[in-house]
Amino acid sequence: MFDPRPLVDIATAIGREAGVLVQRMRATAVVSFDTKSTATDVVTAADRASEQLVRTRLSELRPGEPVLGEEEGGEVVEGLTWVVDPIDGTVNYLYGIPWYSVSIAAQLDGESVAGAVVEPATGRVWTAARGHGAFLDGSPLHVSATTDLSLSLLGYGFAYRAERRQRQADTWAAMATRVRDLRRAGAASLDLCSVAAGRLDAYAEHGLGRWDWAAGGLIAAEAGAVVRLPGSSPELGEDATFAAAPGIAEAMHGALVESGFGKV
Ligand code: IPD
Repeated sequence: MFDPRPLVDIATAIGREAGVLVQRMRATAVVSFDTKSTATDVVTAADRASEQLVRTRLSELRPGEPVLGEEEGGEVVEGLTWVVDPIDGTVNYLYGIPWYSVSIAAQLDGESVAGAVVEPATGRVWTAARGHGAFLDGSPLHVSATTDLSLSLLGYGFAYRAERRQRQADTWAAMATRVRDLRRAGAASLDLCSVAAGRLDAYAEHGLGRWDWAAGGLIAAEAGAVVRLPGSSPELGEDATFAAAPGIAEAMHGALVESGFGKV
Protein backbone atom coordinates (compact mmCIF):
# COMPACT_ATOMS: atom_id res chain seq x y z
CA MET A 1 0.00 0.00 0.00
CA PHE A 2 1.13 3.56 -0.79
CA ASP A 3 2.84 5.17 2.22
CA PRO A 4 3.04 8.99 1.94
CA ARG A 5 5.36 9.44 4.94
CA PRO A 6 8.66 9.38 3.00
CA LEU A 7 7.28 12.31 0.96
CA VAL A 8 6.88 14.30 4.20
CA ASP A 9 10.57 13.75 4.96
CA ILE A 10 11.52 15.06 1.52
CA ALA A 11 9.22 18.09 1.82
CA THR A 12 10.62 18.82 5.29
CA ALA A 13 14.28 18.55 4.27
CA ILE A 14 13.85 20.73 1.19
CA GLY A 15 11.60 23.21 3.01
CA ARG A 16 14.21 23.60 5.76
CA GLU A 17 16.92 24.27 3.19
CA ALA A 18 14.77 26.88 1.40
CA GLY A 19 13.91 28.39 4.78
CA VAL A 20 17.60 28.90 5.58
CA LEU A 21 18.05 30.58 2.21
CA VAL A 22 15.17 33.07 2.61
CA GLN A 23 16.17 33.80 6.19
CA ARG A 24 19.74 34.52 5.09
CA MET A 25 18.55 36.72 2.21
CA ARG A 26 16.43 38.72 4.66
CA ALA A 27 19.32 39.18 7.07
CA THR A 28 21.97 40.13 4.55
CA ALA A 29 20.29 42.20 1.83
CA VAL A 30 17.73 44.88 1.26
CA VAL A 31 14.55 43.04 0.27
CA SER A 32 13.91 43.82 -3.41
CA PHE A 33 10.47 43.19 -4.80
CA ASP A 34 8.17 43.42 -7.85
CA THR A 35 4.39 43.48 -7.95
CA LYS A 36 2.00 40.87 -9.40
CA SER A 37 -1.83 41.02 -9.63
CA THR A 38 -2.07 44.46 -7.96
CA ALA A 39 0.38 47.00 -6.50
CA THR A 40 -0.10 45.40 -3.08
CA ASP A 41 0.59 41.83 -4.30
CA VAL A 42 4.39 41.47 -4.06
CA VAL A 43 7.03 38.95 -5.06
CA THR A 44 10.58 39.25 -3.69
CA ALA A 45 13.90 37.98 -5.04
CA ALA A 46 13.80 35.52 -2.14
CA ASP A 47 10.47 34.03 -3.36
CA ARG A 48 12.11 33.32 -6.73
CA ALA A 49 15.37 31.99 -5.27
CA SER A 50 13.48 29.77 -2.83
CA GLU A 51 11.33 28.27 -5.59
CA GLN A 52 14.41 27.62 -7.74
CA LEU A 53 16.10 25.83 -4.84
CA VAL A 54 13.01 23.69 -4.17
CA ARG A 55 12.66 22.78 -7.86
CA THR A 56 16.35 21.87 -8.14
CA ARG A 57 16.27 19.67 -5.04
CA LEU A 58 13.04 17.96 -6.11
CA SER A 59 14.52 17.23 -9.54
CA GLU A 60 17.49 15.58 -7.78
CA LEU A 61 15.50 13.59 -5.21
CA ARG A 62 12.32 12.90 -7.26
CA PRO A 63 13.42 13.14 -10.90
CA GLY A 64 10.66 13.60 -13.44
CA GLU A 65 7.89 14.46 -10.99
CA PRO A 66 5.98 17.62 -11.95
CA VAL A 67 6.00 20.76 -9.81
CA LEU A 68 3.40 23.51 -9.48
CA GLY A 69 4.92 26.59 -7.87
CA GLU A 70 3.56 30.04 -7.09
CA GLU A 71 6.24 31.92 -9.02
CA GLU A 72 7.09 29.65 -11.98
CA GLY A 73 3.71 27.98 -12.48
CA GLY A 74 3.10 24.42 -13.65
CA GLU A 75 0.02 22.25 -13.49
CA VAL A 76 -1.54 19.52 -11.43
CA VAL A 77 -1.44 16.20 -13.25
CA GLU A 78 -2.85 12.74 -12.67
CA GLY A 79 -0.53 10.93 -10.30
CA LEU A 80 1.93 12.85 -8.17
CA THR A 81 2.45 16.64 -8.28
CA TRP A 82 4.56 18.71 -5.91
CA VAL A 83 2.88 21.98 -4.92
CA VAL A 84 5.19 24.72 -3.67
CA ASP A 85 4.75 28.12 -2.06
CA PRO A 86 8.35 29.36 -1.82
CA ILE A 87 7.33 32.07 0.67
CA ASP A 88 3.77 32.15 1.99
CA GLY A 89 3.23 35.45 3.75
CA THR A 90 5.45 37.48 1.44
CA VAL A 91 4.12 40.79 2.76
CA ASN A 92 5.07 39.72 6.31
CA TYR A 93 8.51 38.73 4.98
CA LEU A 94 8.87 42.12 3.29
CA TYR A 95 8.13 43.94 6.56
CA GLY A 96 10.25 41.67 8.76
CA ILE A 97 7.25 40.11 10.52
CA PRO A 98 8.43 36.55 11.28
CA TRP A 99 5.09 34.89 10.39
CA TYR A 100 5.85 33.41 6.95
CA SER A 101 6.58 29.94 5.67
CA VAL A 102 7.95 27.70 2.96
CA SER A 103 5.09 25.33 2.12
CA ILE A 104 5.63 22.09 0.18
CA ALA A 105 2.99 19.43 -0.47
CA ALA A 106 2.74 16.27 -2.52
CA GLN A 107 -0.64 15.75 -4.16
CA LEU A 108 -1.92 12.52 -5.65
CA ASP A 109 -4.49 13.13 -8.40
CA GLY A 110 -4.93 16.67 -7.05
CA GLU A 111 -5.38 15.72 -3.38
CA SER A 112 -2.76 16.36 -0.73
CA VAL A 113 -1.13 13.25 0.72
CA ALA A 114 1.95 14.78 2.36
CA GLY A 115 2.96 18.25 3.41
CA ALA A 116 5.45 20.34 5.35
CA VAL A 117 5.11 23.99 6.36
CA VAL A 118 8.46 25.35 7.54
CA GLU A 119 8.72 28.59 9.53
CA PRO A 120 12.15 29.98 8.57
CA ALA A 121 12.22 32.56 11.37
CA THR A 122 11.81 29.97 14.15
CA GLY A 123 12.85 26.71 12.48
CA ARG A 124 9.49 25.15 13.47
CA VAL A 125 8.11 22.55 11.08
CA TRP A 126 4.44 21.55 10.72
CA THR A 127 3.86 18.24 8.92
CA ALA A 128 1.20 15.72 7.95
CA ALA A 129 0.81 12.59 5.88
CA ARG A 130 -2.67 11.46 4.87
CA GLY A 131 -4.00 8.95 7.38
CA HIS A 132 -1.04 9.41 9.74
CA GLY A 133 -1.89 12.57 11.73
CA ALA A 134 -0.41 16.05 11.95
CA PHE A 135 2.61 17.22 13.92
CA LEU A 136 4.50 20.30 15.02
CA ASP A 137 8.19 19.45 15.42
CA GLY A 138 7.16 15.84 15.94
CA SER A 139 4.46 16.50 18.58
CA PRO A 140 0.91 15.50 17.59
CA LEU A 141 -1.56 18.27 16.77
CA HIS A 142 -5.25 18.41 17.66
CA VAL A 143 -7.87 21.03 16.87
CA SER A 144 -9.61 22.88 19.67
CA ALA A 145 -12.50 21.29 21.55
CA THR A 146 -14.63 24.43 21.42
CA THR A 147 -18.38 24.05 20.88
CA ASP A 148 -19.48 27.69 21.26
CA LEU A 149 -19.35 29.89 18.16
CA SER A 150 -19.55 33.07 20.25
CA LEU A 151 -16.35 32.05 22.10
CA SER A 152 -14.36 31.04 19.02
CA LEU A 153 -11.37 32.77 17.43
CA LEU A 154 -11.63 33.14 13.65
CA GLY A 155 -8.67 33.65 11.30
CA TYR A 156 -9.34 35.34 7.98
CA GLY A 157 -7.73 37.02 5.01
CA PHE A 158 -8.28 39.60 2.29
CA ALA A 159 -7.97 39.39 -1.49
CA TYR A 160 -5.61 41.79 -3.25
CA ARG A 161 -8.28 43.56 -5.39
CA ALA A 162 -9.80 46.61 -3.67
CA GLU A 163 -13.45 46.07 -4.78
CA ARG A 164 -13.47 42.51 -3.46
CA ARG A 165 -11.75 43.65 -0.29
CA GLN A 166 -14.60 46.09 0.41
CA ARG A 167 -17.17 43.28 0.21
CA GLN A 168 -14.95 41.05 2.37
CA ALA A 169 -14.58 43.82 4.94
CA ASP A 170 -18.39 43.95 5.23
CA THR A 171 -18.48 40.19 5.87
CA TRP A 172 -15.75 40.35 8.52
CA ALA A 173 -17.49 43.30 10.22
CA ALA A 174 -20.66 41.19 10.43
CA MET A 175 -18.71 38.20 11.79
CA ALA A 176 -17.02 40.35 14.45
CA THR A 177 -20.22 40.42 16.51
CA ARG A 178 -20.71 36.64 16.31
CA VAL A 179 -17.33 35.31 17.47
CA ARG A 180 -14.86 36.00 20.28
CA ASP A 181 -12.52 37.86 17.90
CA LEU A 182 -10.85 37.81 14.48
CA ARG A 183 -7.17 37.51 13.46
CA ARG A 184 -5.62 38.52 10.12
CA ALA A 185 -2.11 37.06 10.44
CA GLY A 186 -1.01 37.16 6.77
CA ALA A 187 0.09 33.62 5.86
CA ALA A 188 -2.66 31.19 4.84
CA SER A 189 -0.54 28.06 5.31
CA LEU A 190 0.15 29.08 8.91
CA ASP A 191 -3.50 30.06 9.49
CA LEU A 192 -4.42 26.48 8.59
CA CYS A 193 -1.66 25.12 10.84
CA SER A 194 -3.00 27.36 13.61
CA VAL A 195 -6.40 25.68 13.30
CA ALA A 196 -4.58 22.33 13.52
CA ALA A 197 -2.95 23.43 16.80
CA GLY A 198 -6.10 24.97 18.32
CA ARG A 199 -4.54 28.45 18.16
CA LEU A 200 -7.46 29.40 15.97
CA ASP A 201 -10.86 27.70 16.16
CA ALA A 202 -11.55 28.35 12.49
CA TYR A 203 -10.18 30.07 9.39
CA ALA A 204 -11.84 31.21 6.17
CA GLU A 205 -10.61 33.06 3.10
CA HIS A 206 -11.38 33.40 -0.61
CA GLY A 207 -9.03 33.35 -3.56
CA LEU A 208 -6.11 31.31 -2.26
CA GLY A 209 -3.76 29.60 -4.70
CA ARG A 210 -3.35 25.83 -4.45
CA TRP A 211 0.17 26.45 -3.09
CA ASP A 212 -1.32 28.42 -0.16
CA TRP A 213 -3.53 25.55 1.11
CA ALA A 214 -2.00 22.31 -0.22
CA ALA A 215 0.16 21.52 2.83
CA GLY A 216 -1.73 23.49 5.51
CA GLY A 217 -5.13 22.09 4.50
CA LEU A 218 -3.86 18.53 4.96
CA ILE A 219 -2.27 19.45 8.32
CA ALA A 220 -5.57 20.95 9.54
CA ALA A 221 -7.59 17.94 8.33
CA GLU A 222 -5.19 15.43 9.88
CA ALA A 223 -5.46 17.32 13.20
CA GLY A 224 -9.23 16.82 13.10
CA ALA A 225 -10.53 19.98 11.40
CA VAL A 226 -13.48 20.08 9.04
CA VAL A 227 -11.82 21.40 5.87
CA ARG A 228 -13.43 22.72 2.68
CA LEU A 229 -11.09 23.48 -0.21
CA PRO A 230 -11.76 25.70 -3.25
CA GLY A 231 -14.38 24.17 -5.54
CA SER A 232 -15.98 22.04 -2.83
CA SER A 233 -18.47 24.37 -1.15
CA PRO A 234 -20.70 26.52 -3.43
CA GLU A 235 -22.48 28.04 -0.40
CA LEU A 236 -19.19 29.56 0.78
CA GLY A 237 -18.18 30.58 -2.76
CA GLU A 238 -16.32 28.65 -5.44
CA ASP A 239 -12.87 29.83 -4.35
CA ALA A 240 -13.38 29.53 -0.58
CA THR A 241 -11.01 27.79 1.81
CA PHE A 242 -12.53 26.92 5.20
CA ALA A 243 -11.19 25.00 8.19
CA ALA A 244 -12.86 24.67 11.57
CA ALA A 245 -12.85 22.61 14.74
CA PRO A 246 -15.70 20.09 14.44
CA GLY A 247 -17.56 21.46 17.49
CA ILE A 248 -18.23 24.80 15.78
CA ALA A 249 -17.82 23.93 12.09
CA GLU A 250 -21.51 23.83 11.24
CA ALA A 251 -22.33 26.99 13.22
CA MET A 252 -19.33 28.82 11.72
CA HIS A 253 -20.29 27.75 8.20
CA GLY A 254 -23.86 29.01 8.78
CA ALA A 255 -22.71 32.32 10.29
CA LEU A 256 -20.35 32.94 7.35
CA VAL A 257 -23.13 32.29 4.83
CA GLU A 258 -25.50 34.61 6.75
CA SER A 259 -22.77 37.29 6.84
CA GLY A 260 -22.49 37.27 3.05
CA PHE A 261 -19.20 35.35 2.83
CA GLY A 262 -20.48 33.23 -0.05
CA LYS A 263 -21.23 36.28 -2.18
CA VAL A 264 -18.03 38.30 -2.05
C1 IPD B 1 -0.77 35.13 0.63
C2 IPD B 1 -0.94 34.87 2.12
C3 IPD B 1 -2.06 35.71 2.68
C4 IPD B 1 -3.35 35.50 1.94
C5 IPD B 1 -3.16 35.76 0.46
C6 IPD B 1 -2.05 34.88 -0.09
P1 IPD B 1 1.63 34.79 -0.55
O1 IPD B 1 0.20 34.27 0.08
O2 IPD B 1 -1.20 33.51 2.34
O3 IPD B 1 -2.31 35.40 4.04
O4 IPD B 1 -4.31 36.39 2.44
O5 IPD B 1 -4.38 35.46 -0.20
O6 IPD B 1 -1.87 35.16 -1.47
O7 IPD B 1 1.28 35.67 -1.71
O8 IPD B 1 2.30 35.54 0.52
O9 IPD B 1 2.30 33.53 -0.93
